[in-house]
Amino acid sequence: MKVLKVFANIALLTVLAFSLVACAAPATPAPAAPAAAEPAKVEPTKAPEAAAPAAAEPTKAEKKEFTYSTMTMCYPQLGAESDWRTANTASFKETAGELGVRLIFSDAQQKQENQISAMRACIQQGVDIIALPPVVEDGWDAVLQEAKDAGIPVIIVDRSVKADKSMYAAHIGSNMVQEGEKAGNEMNKLLPDGGKIVELSGTTGSGAATGRAEGFRKTLNKNIEIIDSQTGNFTRAEGKPVMEAFLKKYGKDIKGAFIHNDDMAIGAIEAIKAAGFKPGDIKIVSVDGTRGGFQAMVDGWVQADVECNPLLGPQTMELALNILNGKPFDAETLTKEEVYYPDKAAELLPSRKY
Ligand code: AHR
Repeated sequence: MKVLKVFANIALLTVLAFSLVACAAPATPAPAAPAAAEPAKVEPTKAPEAAAPAAAEPTKAEKKEFTYSTMTMCYPQLGAESDWRTANTASFKETAGELGVRLIFSDAQQKQENQISAMRACIQQGVDIIALPPVVEDGWDAVLQEAKDAGIPVIIVDRSVKADKSMYAAHIGSNMVQEGEKAGNEMNKLLPDGGKIVELSGTTGSGAATGRAEGFRKTLNKNIEIIDSQTGNFTRAEGKPVMEAFLKKYGKDIKGAFIHNDDMAIGAIEAIKAAGFKPGDIKIVSVDGTRGGFQAMVDGWVQADVECNPLLGPQTMELALNILNGKPFDAETLTKEEVYYPDKAAELLPSRKY
């Protein structure tokens, strides 16, 4: 009985193997049917492999040329904490819509673990390229390695990462240290006789906050003392209580404030107003150059606004296409930025794009 079963199985497997070979290569002449007496040659589990020869792996010459409409880009946005961020998201979505790029967008709500999960989902889906605006600088090595292993290039957008440059294809964004230097120069001009100032810093551990803090300290005159520095996480909601606490603690000793973005500045101004200060009593240097920042200059609360450009969609998509098509590209692209002052604020405000 057992022997009969074995023979029956062998016969079945033999028939299976022949039909697989026949399906895989219908053009080739049918091989001579092996004698039923040679069942050892039949390996049905290997048959599908034989049916899909090396042709599954395209050679370089056969690789497709990407166009915008065939490119899928993953954009795991870090959050929606500020007007700057809203403009950055709009820039990516609008550019993708105009060019026909398939954009896989997500919002990590300022949490690195959410950004990493979103990146992993994109890697699993086999996107063509990832553009990553990292919420903080550290902790990207593992997921960058995973993207690299999957052959998916990564462009670091906006803030920087602390990872070896070989882990990603390119970076596009602002020079945050330079922004801090510009802010320091402005504070020097505003307080020629020196004085005590406070700093409302961006998200702790972010390239934007560390870079701006570094550049600011580098240029600040010795007669200006930073008496306190606290994070407001780049949001209006947190900027206000941080400034309230500063005012409660130091009161009229505060002669100036370096605020790492316009949203926190707007929150801080509410606290300054509520404490009875007049525009200009505390000299404010802010960063971004959003419409809200411009309005604060028109109203006299902000004395200088260092630009940080969020409209990175078009340049990033062009860069992505060059990377995917093996064309020459810049590994580091820094956006051109200016400093704005109250005297031109009213005139420029209507033309601000964000
Ligand atoms: O990384 C850019 C910074 O992030 C902007 O200055 C700020 O507004 C945003 O939240």
